[in-house]
Amino acid sequence: MQNFVWETPARVHFGKGVIEELPEEVARFGRRVLLAYGGGSIKRIGLYDKIRELLKDCEIVELTGIEPNPRVESAREGAKLCREHDVDVIVSVGGGSVLDCSKLVAAAAKYDGDAWDLVEKNELAGECLPIIAVMTLAATGSELDAGAVISNLGKKRKLPFMHGPTFPKAAFLDPTYSFTVPAWHTACGASDILSHVMEQYFVLDANPIADGFCETMMRVVVEETPVALTEPDNYDARAALMWASSWGCNGLLSLGNGPSAWACHAIEHEISAYYDVTHGAGLAVVTPRWLRRSMTAETAPRIAHFGARVFDLAPTGDVMEDAERAVRALEAFYAKIGMPADMEALGVPDTENVDAMAEGAFTAFPLHLAMKPLEREDVKAILLDAFR
Ligand code: NZQ
Ligand code: ZN
Repeated sequence: MQNFVWETPARVHFGKGVIEELPEEVARFGRRVLLAYGGGSIKRIGLYDKIRELLKDCEIVELTGIEPNPRVESAREGAKLCREHDVDVIVSVGGGSVLDCSKLVAAAAKYDGDAWDLVEKNELAGECLPIIAVMTLAATGSELDAGAVISNLGKKRKLPFMHGPTFPKAAFLDPTYSFTVPAWHTACGASDILSHVMEQYFVLDANPIADGFCETMMRVVVEETPVALTEPDNYDARAALMWASSWGCNGLLSLGNGPSAWACHAIEHEISAYYDVTHGAGLAVVTPRWLRRSMTAETAPRIAHFGARVFDLAPTGDVMEDAERAVRALEAFYAKIGMPADMEALGVPDTENVDAMAEGAFTAFPLHLAMKPLEREDVKAILLDAFR
């Protein structure tokens, strides 16, 4: 087990009706609020009206229309609003995209330059406005981490923005808000949760506590996603997915383990940067191919163990065969929840940008630290395989 420090700044309010505690959390920071949200789902579910009523004593300015795969342009606009209105606190209401945009707004509002500088050079970021996260979709776990992912489609870049002070001060997780998430985004969110766990689980230097956490999270996703898809208002299924989502990037799943390369995320972010695909769908195309490309005598026992623990596969005595069966079980799960199996189904038309994507995947992620270290040609092979 490796040394570690663990700290989690967010106060988590979990369950039905917890939004009533929002005014108290906001009051910790002031009364001038930037209310950030996306394309309108929070209005359709009545959450917008509820929050306006709860915060009726606050001065509210709104940042609306934040896109899935949030754009740097929205963050620029939010930072401008925060400066003009001397905002005290940002209340982000929606999925990971709204929250990620809010994180860059929080830093850019206090930065004397362009928001994209902070994404390209995270170390330029300093002080931040506090953020309160109200989640309506189980996927990213952004509510319990200090990371955001921001797109600049003009530059064909989608990059992480990692900065400690953007960690939300409070998170509101009411699973009933996720009842209305459409099947596609429910499944993409589940694929994202599963990937966050797998990225941290598939390392060679793991410890049994982390393994136990990871295996529980993966089983929960595999068991509860089909329930949430057939019964969208099943509270227990939605609650399990929402809490599993918050565990994805909160650090506990890899504490004491060796480094994780987040290889599938590195590759998927490139596909999103070029083709604006939904993150979880891209991960479903990349992950089985990454596992096969990573399969060696050294890594196969781990992949086979995953098959046994998550999909109840009985060992055959041939570890390479068991590892391959584990990947096939993962593919069957993706198919069951409606995820695409290849680039065509993902909506990526041709191989034109494969070289550039393979190069770009190395910008922000330590792919040489993957359980089987990745070179450019590995990433290229993974991408090209998805066109067959
Ligand atoms: O925009 P609105 O109208 O709110 O609609 C959204 C959006 O169209 C809709 N939605 C959300 N809650 C809903 C709902 N529709 C009906 N009912 C509800 N209750 O769902 C759509 C997708 O929302 P989005 O926020 O884009 O999804 P998600 O939470 O999956 O976030 C994806 C983004 O997060 C990044 C991804 O790359 C992607 O850009 N990630 C962020 C991470 C982080 N900060 O830690 C880690 C992840 O690995 C990921 O990369
Ligand atoms: Zn992800």
